[in-house]
Amino acid sequence: MKGSFITFEGIDGSGKTTQLNKLAESLRNSGRDVLVTCEPGGTPLGKEIRKAFLETKQDVEPLAELLLFAADRAQHVQHLIRPALAAGRIVISDRYADATVAYQGAGRGFDLELVERVIAIATNGLKPDLTLFFDIDPHQAVDRMAFRGEHKMNRMDLESLEFYTRVREGYLKIAAAEPKRFRVIDAGRSVDEIAEETLEIVKENLARV
Ligand code: ADP
Ligand code: TYD
Repeated sequence: MKGSFITFEGIDGSGKTTQLNKLAESLRNSGRDVLVTCEPGGTPLGKEIRKAFLETKQDVEPLAELLLFAADRAQHVQHLIRPALAAGRIVISDRYADATVAYQGAGRGFDLELVERVIAIATNGLKPDLTLFFDIDPHQAVDRMAFRGEHKMNRMDLESLEFYTRVREGYLKIAAAEPKRFRVIDAGRSVDEIAEETLEIVKENLARV
């Protein structure tokens, strides 16, 4: 039995967590067995790693950041995602490896080959069946984050508009390279409009598996 691995991506404030919760609810209402998880922090060890380097005022070396996201992912893949997929569940993760390509690659400027090598080691080759990229103008995302309030801010949330613009471009490059797996959804619309399209794409994908 093989489950289905779906990942959600987008710059901070794109609304992907809102959409992920709505999708999980719709799928569960139609009788599907869904595991909702996230990166970083999808496992107890991951939560500790996340706290150590995202909720810190220390100056974090970019290479340490790259490797800590990878460490979080290695634990997540082996302890949570692979067992759930083996049990036939639908796993939906709020971010996965594409975030490293976009944030550490395009955002921080790490060489893409190095980033891909680190990802391959951390995931042992596990790729999502489907990735939904919630695409939004970085200005709009920053407005949404400000509205959400400062209590939810972490080290990455304090990055500049230029940084998020590079991250978005990084994601759009993945979309151009892998259009079948990596689907772009216009996230500048209302919550309900986006949820409807999201559910449609996911249902179509699940029907094919
Ligand atoms: P992300 O997980 O991508 O950072 P969230 O789902 O947490 O984004 O949404 C960020 C903020 O924007 C929240 O305050 C949320 O209520 C709000 N929001 C989410 N989707 C929309 C939307 N389609 N239109 C307007 N506001 C939204
Ligand atoms: P989080 O609070 O989980 O943000 P969000 O709700 O927007 O997903 O913070 C995670 C931050 O870490 C977010 O800014 C994206 C970033 N990130 C990377 O830079 N690289 C990665 O590989 C991952 C998984 C996340």
